[in-house]
Amino acid sequence: MSKQFLQDVEEGLSKSKKTIPSKYFYDKRGDELFIKIMHLPEYYLTRSELEIFQTKTAQIIEALALSPSSYFELIELGAGDGLKTLELLKPLVVQNFSFDYMPIDISMNALELIADKLKGALPSLSIKKQQGDYFKILDSLKATSHPKVVLFLGSSIGNMEDEEAIGFLSALGSNLSKGDKLLLGVDLIKPASVVLPAYNDSQGVTRDFNLNLLRRINEELHGDFNLNEFEHIPSYSEEDGYARSYLKSRKDQKVRINGNGNFYELKEGEQIQTEVSRKYNDEIINTILEKTDFEIQSKITDNKGYFANYVLNRV
Ligand code: TRP
Repeated sequence: MSKQFLQDVEEGLSKSKKTIPSKYFYDKRGDELFIKIMHLPEYYLTRSELEIFQTKTAQIIEALALSPSSYFELIELGAGDGLKTLELLKPLVVQNFSFDYMPIDISMNALELIADKLKGALPSLSIKKQQGDYFKILDSLKATSHPKVVLFLGSSIGNMEDEEAIGFLSALGSNLSKGDKLLLGVDLIKPASVVLPAYNDSQGVTRDFNLNLLRRINEELHGDFNLNEFEHIPSYSEEDGYARSYLKSRKDQKVRINGNGNFYELKEGEQIQTEVSRKYNDEIINTILEKTDFEIQSKITDNKGYFANYVLNRV
């Protein structure tokens, strides 16, 4: 049993507004379900960002202000599935840009999967896998003064509250140098009729994904959550751009974890927040960036205007 997991769950369930940290979604079953989510007809995010990478890499490369003759490091935070990255790597390789591709991930397995996939498609690509914590690795990369382009895609930033995002981008900025670039993928504010189904699909995959968190707690932390007594609830407000996912208790109940005497009481209708999926516009992005060392250099969107890749300049 992971102590950290137990501690985080106990802390989250002790709050007056209960939460469970979203990073615990991703065990083996969670990874599988999330791959299914990415292929759902309602889950526009992945397709919208992929469309940008399939049709607008020339614009991205121009905005990154790279020149083929000067070496840079292309650093990706999170190994991802490689599909989008491959679209960017192809023209860079074909046009003989001089760079190393450095995916950073906590999972060696994820790094090996992506490296194999990209090597297969682009044999001449130089890949330097970096296993570990983002900031530790960026700190070690600081030793060399090579220009850097950092990729942070998939609106992963949206899984942070704004204060956290500011902290994250500030830490990132302090590990980079003036003129380095950040390519930040973000989901844009759009009507609830589009956003809500992406977090509440008709096949119930998202529901299973959300409930999997409780199954995992039962299994790994000896919890006694009855999954039938919880309902998957998405929420979204177009005014502020916050999408959130909850697990709502269907009745007054007590749950125990870790087989010890401690229990947590849930009232009927009480909700445990499990995820935030923030949506953005220029104003929100600028309010966040004001408190960091980045400024917007360029913004590239898909044809529907659902998703944006911002090229940010480290000032
Ligand atoms: N973090 C991803 C997102 O915000 C994953 C996700 C998709 C998700 N659907 C979800 C997380 C439902 C919690 C609940 O888009």
